[in-house]
Amino acid sequence: MQSLPALLDARLRELTGVDPEMRPATKPQFGHFQSNVALRLANEQGRPPREVAADIVAQLDVADLCEPLEIAGPGFINFRMRSDVLAQAVSQLLEDPHGGINPANHPQRVVIDYSAPNVAKTMHVGHLRTTIIGDCFNRVLSALGHTVIPQNHIGDWGTQFGMLIEQVLDEGLDASTLTLDEADALYKRAAARFKEDDEFATRARARVAVFQGGDEESLRIWRQLVDISKPAFNEAYRRLNVKLTDDDLAGESTYNDDLPVLVKELEDSGVAVMDDGALCVFVDGFEAPLIVRKSDGGYGYATTDLAAIRRRVNEIHADRIIYVTDLRQAGHFKQIFAAARKAGFLPGDVTAQHVGYGMVLGTDGRPFKTRDGSAATLGSLLDAAEEVAAPNIALAAIKYADLSNGLQKDYTFDAERMVQTTGDTGPYLQYAHARVNQILRKAEAEGIHWGSVTVLEEPAEQQLALKLSGFGEVVDEVAQSLQPHKLCAYLYDLAGALAAFYEACPVLKSEGDVRASRLALCAATQQVLAKGLDLLGIDAPERM
Ligand code: ARG
Repeated sequence: MQSLPALLDARLRELTGVDPEMRPATKPQFGHFQSNVALRLANEQGRPPREVAADIVAQLDVADLCEPLEIAGPGFINFRMRSDVLAQAVSQLLEDPHGGINPANHPQRVVIDYSAPNVAKTMHVGHLRTTIIGDCFNRVLSALGHTVIPQNHIGDWGTQFGMLIEQVLDEGLDASTLTLDEADALYKRAAARFKEDDEFATRARARVAVFQGGDEESLRIWRQLVDISKPAFNEAYRRLNVKLTDDDLAGESTYNDDLPVLVKELEDSGVAVMDDGALCVFVDGFEAPLIVRKSDGGYGYATTDLAAIRRRVNEIHADRIIYVTDLRQAGHFKQIFAAARKAGFLPGDVTAQHVGYGMVLGTDGRPFKTRDGSAATLGSLLDAAEEVAAPNIALAAIKYADLSNGLQKDYTFDAERMVQTTGDTGPYLQYAHARVNQILRKAEAEGIHWGSVTVLEEPAEQQLALKLSGFGEVVDEVAQSLQPHKLCAYLYDLAGALAAFYEACPVLKSEGDVRASRLALCAATQQVLAKGLDLLGIDAPERM
């Protein structure tokens, strides 16, 4: 569905050739929207603004949408939507099998690279954000009819396994019996030794080559570490209620066999050149080159990302690839994309986008820490929120707090505030949904039926209807711009319009067609709130 304001905007734009800058009217007596386009054109043309406005009103054909237009003050044009048009928009929404979402005209194959925790390490708050944000993109793009292929690029390879394996051997541990927290502690012990103990560091480095060369004992320990990590990741996904499964795993190790082949191709084609012992791709605009093979012959994070792009293009046939990581990796991806384009791995018709997010802060304005002062893990954050609210409300609070600000901004994790059912919070939207459900339940229990919207005269009813007509548009915008806060703001406004409607218009206490119409309006609002929350990954309980 196209929103009614967008329809009006388009016609006025076509007639005048400029942006009509349509604004919501400041008072109900001015109608629903106002445009100052005549004032601006009059200025250019040196004519009286009211005369220009009169010309526009005479030529603009919107009788199918609006009441007769009015010219106000110095030359504003006021638009009032016809109540039957608003009523029809809501009725259409109720009948729409897509619930007001516009199916994409050109469905795409979209790879979303998100979550990506690291083996033998607990998930930290950064992984919380990528998991929540990626899940929201997954839901929004899937709802529009795109084919989403999540890729969980877990850190399951790389040089850290050199020291991990050495540490397991030194301590004589059976890695298969470790919990992820124990593996994390092992990692920390290994990392500390790596820094202090030269002999250990040398062995750990040597172990990398042995392990990546296929040594059986090393691979066995590596596999054990991977195997104990996956269930812990899945447990976090279950707790977060996100859609990731083992089928979405495509960790760094997946690309191991591709690396020498890809690097040789880069060398043969001259895209990569030797520099100071390392094989490098130089890309314009970057001071340091991208190292695709280190001087010791090893491959790093960047080479793996090039291999991943190539598979995503050649084998997954992606039209669009989206990466969700913290902002600090923005430079890495910019360089990877440029290098992949230069190497011909990323054709011009495939979009690659990095979405970076900011940090999670405590109420003291510093990176969030647990009570004992250690860096917060994903689990500890969920625990903190569940201390002040039931799990599904705590989760709504966390997800909404994460998605409702610009992603790039840091956000403050203030459990007490986030779980409030008033203000701009997830639980407030859940509450709005539960309340409208309650009305519909009561009506059903009393045997009151409603069908479509027939009467829609009150300004508060009309504002709610107008807001509802904008749902499809905002979902399109999120899919395009990857800015979930726009959907959050829309739902918050919708909940506000619903509250204003309750205030002004009795529902169950009214009668006849008015009551049936108001119930239909409630039903449409319930539908949009539920769908909108679902796109954010937030559960919409019927009762609270
Ligand atoms: N494992 C990395 C981390 O924890 C994120 C990986 C992101 N994806 C990628 N293709 N590089 O920071």
